[in-house]
Amino acid sequence: MEIVRTVDWMKQVSRAARAKEHVAGFVPTMGAIHEGHLSLVREAQKACSPVVVSIFVNPTQFGPTEDLTKYPRPFEADRSALEALGVDYLFAPAVTEIYPKGFSTTVNVSGVADRLEGRTRPGHFSGVATVVLNLFEIVQPRFAFFGRKDAQQQAVIRRMVRDLNLDAEIVTCPIVREADGLALSSRNVYLKSDERRAATVLYRSLQKLRGEIEGGGRDLARLLAAMQGVIGGEPAVALEYAEIVDAETFEPPNGLRGNCFAVLAARVGTTRLIDNAFIKQTADTLRVIL
Ligand code: PAJ
Repeated sequence: MEIVRTVDWMKQVSRAARAKEHVAGFVPTMGAIHEGHLSLVREAQKACSPVVVSIFVNPTQFGPTEDLTKYPRPFEADRSALEALGVDYLFAPAVTEIYPKGFSTTVNVSGVADRLEGRTRPGHFSGVATVVLNLFEIVQPRFAFFGRKDAQQQAVIRRMVRDLNLDAEIVTCPIVREADGLALSSRNVYLKSDERRAATVLYRSLQKLRGEIEGGGRDLARLLAAMQGVIGGEPAVALEYAEIVDAETFEPPNGLRGNCFAVLAARVGTTRLIDNAFIKQTADTLRVIL
């Protein structure tokens, strides 16, 4: 695995791969690599060569009161996990490489980026869209792999790719969970042991939702109330939002028609967690995928 620190060098590698008609796969991350990230790498390796993983803790997607400075950066462990998997290139640039002096361009995706996470974290998705477009230009991937864990993020990226006719095709991969259902996240390391136990309530509320829908429940208000009821039973967890939204626009859907996400955000102590279920419309019924 080659570690690439500069934009110029990464671009040379990308151009050479394109010239040889290689199908480059790209997995952008902020590091603190866990099985969720590694599942994206494995998916990329099935279809692509070379596979490029980036580790870049992107300052522009953190709000002023968020955890930019304390975000975990275990570079050595990350490097060896990616190397063990056979990643071809690890792109790990300094902040000044991506944001040189005088940087003044921002990508704003409106609509899908304005709701839920976008509302709670102003500027977050423009930071994400700006860095992802920037990274796509450097890496020039044919396929880029994102986790459904960040459902709204992948919807924002898909919107940007469509609107700007970017070359990369977005692949959205399933959520990797701990044995007790908690979705893997680099932020889980912040949880104290009692908070870690309480955090499983997000998954339990999505299980409740699945049970209700499989039992024929279709009334949105009732479905939301069922989820909220489960979370309300865990006093250590403060719900920020629970909503069912259209899977593409993140607008409130017109009943449970078409693909939807049930999305959750909650605080456990000072740690903010998100989770979701994909409500997939099939020919004659709905499947709820956790
Ligand atoms: P990060 O939080 O490091 O996540 C990198 C990728 O891993 C994202 O696509 C995310 O959805 C995916 N991921 C995280 N946890 C997962 C899980 N439990 N199961 C499956 N996939 C999971 O998301 C970002 O970084 C940044 O916003 C980034 C896109 C890199 C832009 O800075």
